[in-house]
Amino acid sequence: MAKITAGVASSHVPAIGAAWDLKKTQDAYWKPVFDGFEFTKRWEAEQKPDVVFLVYNDHATAFSLDFIPTFAIGVAERFQPADEGWGARPVPVVEGAPDLAWHITQSVIQSDFDLTIVNKMDVDHGLTVPLTLMFGQPEAWPCKVIPFAVNVVQYPPPSGARCYALGKAIRKAVESFPEDLNVQIWGTGGMSHQIQGPRSGLINRDFDTAFLDGLTKDPEGLTRIGHVEYMREAGSEGIEMVMWLIMRGALDDAAKEVYRFYHVPASNTAVGHIILENPK
Ligand code: DHB
Ligand code: FE
Repeated sequence: MAKITAGVASSHVPAIGAAWDLKKTQDAYWKPVFDGFEFTKRWEAEQKPDVVFLVYNDHATAFSLDFIPTFAIGVAERFQPADEGWGARPVPVVEGAPDLAWHITQSVIQSDFDLTIVNKMDVDHGLTVPLTLMFGQPEAWPCKVIPFAVNVVQYPPPSGARCYALGKAIRKAVESFPEDLNVQIWGTGGMSHQIQGPRSGLINRDFDTAFLDGLTKDPEGLTRIGHVEYMREAGSEGIEMVMWLIMRGALDDAAKEVYRFYHVPASNTAVGHIILENPK
């Protein structure tokens, strides 16, 4: 049977992707950010996931204000890195896992979560930057990826409670797939940041630290944070953190924190990263 072995959360700051692509990882500004993912690169090389279920948000790249799915699952064979205005990132094509993706789609929709099915889309920094942080620059990504896009761009986004419950349905779906697969679930985006308006540049270390603590020890508590509190405490883009609750909902209550990293600043954003392993 397929099994969710671990959850990984990470920020997806586009400037991190640009710093990697332009070979600036050893610059004084960027070195601490990339050093924070060295443990993870070694850990991933040991874990060797077959598939990553990658919860991320599209930033008006594949979708636009013309249509905005709340939850969208990518079932295609492959997904091209998107051109976000300065050419596509020089990273490998993302190979999908259509059989598992369709199985999850069926199971989760029949569990009463209405997903949008995406047969074709390009994937932006929300998905490719976490892949770079976890795997570096291989010829091909070392695992298949199921992109799962969440609307956190156009109000109203889904609640944290809904995201957490969805994570549980995703786990049930994955763990009823008959093939033996090592599946990880990633939650991306965050942490506190605001990239527009008078509070642009807002960072809230206390909120972020409490969120990381809660993710490990009291995820149910985090599901009670409402949209206004995210906005007030973590900035307008801090709402991206609801995606981390999908990841957490798909793990055991007793999941163990094996690594944590927090760094300010990277562009306008506090970079947060955590690894939680399910009991074996
Ligand atoms: C930044 C952060 C984001 O999450 C994003 O999607 C775009 C920009 C930033 O900090 O620059
Ligand atoms: Fe973002």
